[in-house]
Amino acid sequence: MSNAERFPHLKANDPEVYQLIQEQCELESSTLKMIASESYATYEVMEACGSPFTNKYSEGYPDARYYEGNQVTDKLENLARERGKKLFGAEHFNVQPYSGSPANHAVYRAVVKPGDKIMGMPVTDGGHLTHGWKVSFSGMDYVQVPYGTNPETGKIDMDQVREIALRERPKLIWAGTSAYPLKLDYAAFAEIAKEVDAYLVADISHINSLVIAGVHPDPVPYCDVVTSTSHKMLRGPRAGFVMSKIEDRYQQKYFPTSKFNLAQRIDRAVFPGLQGGPHMHAIAAMATAFAYAMTDEFKEYGKQIVKNARALVSAIIEKGYAVASGGTDTHLVVLDFRKEEFTGKDVSQALAKCGIIANFNMVPGDQRKPSVTSGVRLGTPSLTSLGMKENDMLKVADWIDQVCKNVYDIDKVATRIRGEIAEFLKGFDVPGIRPKLI
Ligand SMILES: Cc1ncc(COP(=O)(O)O)c(C=O)c1O
Repeated sequence: MSNAERFPHLKANDPEVYQLIQEQCELESSTLKMIASESYATYEVMEACGSPFTNKYSEGYPDARYYEGNQVTDKLENLARERGKKLFGAEHFNVQPYSGSPANHAVYRAVVKPGDKIMGMPVTDGGHLTHGWKVSFSGMDYVQVPYGTNPETGKIDMDQVREIALRERPKLIWAGTSAYPLKLDYAAFAEIAKEVDAYLVADISHINSLVIAGVHPDPVPYCDVVTSTSHKMLRGPRAGFVMSKIEDRYQQKYFPTSKFNLAQRIDRAVFPGLQGGPHMHAIAAMATAFAYAMTDEFKEYGKQIVKNARALVSAIIEKGYAVASGGTDTHLVVLDFRKEEFTGKDVSQALAKCGIIANFNMVPGDQRKPSVTSGVRLGTPSLTSLGMKENDMLKVADWIDQVCKNVYDIDKVATRIRGEIAEFLKGFDVPGIRPKLI
């Protein structure tokens, strides 16, 4: 189906927006999407996002709404919750957060009070803004006790995490990252959290599909709460969700007078605490993304993401470059240019000119400023959802090498490399962008 057939009303009635959709499709089908937090939403997800559920106001929760006419949305939200519970083995599931940051915000509102100490990784070490970074609400309203990676090894040192936790006694510990390529040890985090009576919250936004595929440890048995986005590698809509235990193991200690358990406090924090009406079209899309994530095909995709990342690391190392943390267990490959003259920013800009879209990123032990950095963060989910395999990563590594070698004179090679990439991509169906039928 062509875009003209898919979006006939936009084409006829709003040619400006239609034209921009065309341009975005062109961009996404002629460049290598290697932003680690992106993938391609499935057709089912796109269709559900464009469905009439976008029309409906459903403040509240199933069977307890503040608007009439929710007999169908109740069924939909229950379906999404039940599928989510089954997919992750969670006791309680909230599908209403508008995105990952509001999901994390709701957790703060449910388990800590402004001014409390929370432990998280700084953005400069690979953490997310919402884990207590100073410019986010989480760093303004709560006191971040930071833990990071060892500058020598690029790994999280769990002995150090324990030492900091025992000294600072945070009430909440975040185990989740945006730019850390290795596995997280949730069992070790759980022991530490137990020692200091802290809530343990895993944020699996970046790695949810690896957990589903069984190639990353599962945080659900170890954590009080687990949050996630439903876009990124899960290939769902831009939205978030929160799963939790029902009972609060610290109820007596921290919430002795509350009549609400952990699950109820999370629900109340999402609505009416932070949000109004849920985005039912996104919840419909989340439900269908969860159904797809239960298939064997999806699990193969999750496994292949890691195989591709490992193949890319090996090829990059073979060409003489370094990678942060010594390698990858996930979808992430963080190029480490601390020893190079060029910076992360130099390379990410040159890559973009050549049709490889990624972002510059700090690496452990980085001496350069966050606006320049010594690293480039690459992710394999998008390429894997196109069907690429290890062999294709050799080609990608080759283009990256050519870009690095020509970084100061990139215009000399950019048109050629861009053309090669566009040609290479013609061999793949780009989901939601260039359907099989055209
Ligand atoms: C680990 C982690 N948590 C939360 C988020 C926030 O998600 P959103 O951008 O949907 O607010 C991100 C986004 O990159 C993330 O990487």
